[in-house]
Amino acid sequence: MDKIRITGGQRLDGAIPISGAKNAALPLMIASLLTDETLTLANVPRLSDVSALSRILSNHGVDRSIAGKRIGQSAETGQTIALTARQIVDTCAPYELVSTMRASFWVIAPILARMGEAKVSLPGGCAIGTRPVDLLLMALERLGAEIEIENGYAIARAPRGLKGAEIVFPKVTVGGTHTALMAAVLAQGTTVIENAAREPEVTDLAACLTKMGAKIEGAGTSRIVVTGVARLGGAHHAVLPDRIETGTYAMAVAMTGGDVLLEGARADLLQSALDVLVKAGVEVSSTKEGIRVRRNGQPLEAVDVETDPFPGFPTDLQAQFMALMTKARGTSRIRETIFENRFMHVQELARLGAKIRLEGDCAHVEGVAKLTGAPVMATDLRASVSLVIAGLAAEGETTINRVYHLDRGFEALEAKLTRCGALVERLSG
Ligand code: EPZ
Repeated sequence: MDKIRITGGQRLDGAIPISGAKNAALPLMIASLLTDETLTLANVPRLSDVSALSRILSNHGVDRSIAGKRIGQSAETGQTIALTARQIVDTCAPYELVSTMRASFWVIAPILARMGEAKVSLPGGCAIGTRPVDLLLMALERLGAEIEIENGYAIARAPRGLKGAEIVFPKVTVGGTHTALMAAVLAQGTTVIENAAREPEVTDLAACLTKMGAKIEGAGTSRIVVTGVARLGGAHHAVLPDRIETGTYAMAVAMTGGDVLLEGARADLLQSALDVLVKAGVEVSSTKEGIRVRRNGQPLEAVDVETDPFPGFPTDLQAQFMALMTKARGTSRIRETIFENRFMHVQELARLGAKIRLEGDCAHVEGVAKLTGAPVMATDLRASVSLVIAGLAAEGETTINRVYHLDRGFEALEAKLTRCGALVERLSG
């Protein structure tokens, strides 16, 4: 297994291109199952999660072609993928495929909507919490599907098609909202989704579905109204920039000090996280080219943070922010409200010298003067990248094991950091 070795202590200066968002690319790729025409997606990041989902989709009969390299493109400019589900040849998503990636469970909605049946393996546990799918199945039931759970599979049937209905989510769920949207676009009549997730990735999916011929109002608000149509067609859509990658590099620069332009980043996608960085003493400005992040000698101040659904502070930046706060002046309280078990990075940060005390859903991070390098590993991708951020500021060498977590969600991480002056290298294992 590959490792990443970081020699800490270098400032970051230069520019980092921000890739297309993983968490938008995945539902957009799944939306290709809704039509027999071609859905062309541009700015798709080169990530192992994207390759894994491609394999899952091809099992259902989706043809994929990837546009060749053009002049001016590099391994870091997003790829363009054309997906065509002329026929769905298999309505079952087996355990072996779904267990590698939770988001693949979402194929249940378009397959059910188009074929009247779908059988998808339940995703099972995951490092950051139990992450059930009850609300996704509730949404499909509200639209008239009959659901059975049998031998670890969710089997959904709607032989006479889905019917529009009111879906009220008792808590905000991104996957639930994606699922409800993809099922409702082909249902007969009107669906109202209440307490819908307002995450930019939901808005991006709705924008793409609209280009495919869907009728959707209110995406980006907590009430989405969908008027079902008989069929959808092909479309061309560019994936929005990755707000979590943007926030991660912003925190890396805040941690090491320096001056970096995050090219193509959009501040409106992560305003709450940028506001927190400003409170911590980091300079953040929006420019035509992206977001510029600077810290030149000013000390980092401790800031309290609570994760929340969008537009609140994202849970997917909690680990990275905790890494940053390990070197702030004072004690920062970080509360995780979305997932019950998303503090596995705490033990590993402690190996680098961080002082963190856990109390229920709250971490008390007492800033220390210095971190020192050590071998570390993490069990999910955001936790892994928090160790990269800490390693960049630690004295000496930090080796991060299980790099495959990083490859799931961060395109060309070493190259992007190295070009800004970091000492980062991949060691093949
Ligand atoms: C998406 O996961 C993201 N994944 C996650 O990013 C992100 O952390 C999460 O949204 C929250 O923003 C992708 O987009 C691929 P949820 P999702 O349904 O949709 C509970 C990353 O690192 N819940 O919004 O699975 C659930 O347990 C990943 O890129 C139910 O109780 O998250 C959680 O507590 C990690 N029943 C809360 O809702 C359900 O049926 C929010 O989860 C569904 C969810």
